[in-house]
Amino acid sequence: METDARPESEAQAVLGGGVRRFGGPVEVLELPGPRELRPDEVLIDVQACGVGNWDEFARTGGWDLGVRPPMALGVEAAGLVAAVGDRVTGIAAGDRVTVHSAPLREQGTWAGRHIAAAAQVAVLPTGVPVDAAAALPVPALTADQVIDGALQVRAGQTVLVHGAGGVTGGMLVQLAAHRGAKVIATAGADSAGRVSAIGADTVLDYHQRDWPEQVRALTGGGVDGAANAVRAGSAEAIRAVRDGGRLATITADLPDAERGIATQAVQVVPDGARLAGLVQLLAQGVLTVTVAGSFSLERAAAALAQARHGAHGSATVLRPSGSQHAASQR
Ligand SMILES: NC(=O)c1ccc[n+]([C@@H]2O[C@H](COP(=O)([O-])OP(=O)(O)OC[C@H]3O[C@@H](n4cnc5c(N)ncnc54)[C@H](OP(=O)(O)O)[C@@H]3O)[C@@H](O)[C@H]2O)c1
Repeated sequence: METDARPESEAQAVLGGGVRRFGGPVEVLELPGPRELRPDEVLIDVQACGVGNWDEFARTGGWDLGVRPPMALGVEAAGLVAAVGDRVTGIAAGDRVTVHSAPLREQGTWAGRHIAAAAQVAVLPTGVPVDAAAALPVPALTADQVIDGALQVRAGQTVLVHGAGGVTGGMLVQLAAHRGAKVIATAGADSAGRVSAIGADTVLDYHQRDWPEQVRALTGGGVDGAANAVRAGSAEAIRAVRDGGRLATITADLPDAERGIATQAVQVVPDGARLAGLVQLLAQGVLTVTVAGSFSLERAAAALAQARHGAHGSATVLRPSGSQHAASQR
């Protein structure tokens, strides 16, 4: 059965930031208004949506999100629930929520309205800023899968985060420290202070070619677990892991197995329940995400360019509200 709880405005076209073809430029598209909700879906009035370097893979077709252009891009958003399907429990119209959506049910999140699978949605605790809530899902879920999943980090262990100066890299540091690990991080000189402030015990400059050997010397043989967040960085990071330790990479560069080290490539998986736990940590101040600036939908291409080039560990968001209904703009 399908819900009949849709506001009238859904019939209106929606503006989205996206592409007409894979590899094409990011532009403002007029998209059909959201269809009727399926029983397990939530319709979100998007207030802010995250823009990450991973969106470039979606733009070029390298990340199959299950829909084809013309399409809005974007896989994370925060906003207000406008309507829910008739089998959705625990989420109601008017709730403030956040989501990492994949595969997409209809369109990406860079639009005024977004249909998400309810199982991928988390209700926000009071007081969490909408920009931070929009930028959290992919980095935090990825870090959670690495720290609690692939590396199985326990209190007292030593963990390396290679590439801690980035948004996801910083989330890896924060979560490892929160789990009670001693964190050794790599970052550039300009990022070292920031990476220390979010929980790294030691920060090594990755420009020094012997940094993996420095880690081995500091730890008496290598870290228990290493998280690689640098493109093609695993081959270096594994040198800093002790015999029989673990390495997880988020940049799809799994190194050859060596010295009994368990290796795993991690690809972020949407999970509303885990996301709910992570936004609680955000509300408590255990996790922080800094937002470099918010862009209007019309500047989505510039937002993606900023995210691709990195903004010193700060996240990028779009604010589509105010331009979501094409019909009302004419
Ligand atoms: N598998 C997944 O599901 C998944 C999820 C999220 C992200 N990712 C990928 O993970 C990577 C990192 O993501 P992110 O959000 O942290 O990216 P980001 O915010 O763009 O990170 C940029 C930072 O990386 C650091 N960096 C660059 N080259 C480095 C090197 N050779 N050694 C150490 N650090 C270096 C720089 O830090 P300094 O300022 O310290 O120089 C730079 O500020 C990206 O490739 C992203 O696509 C994958």
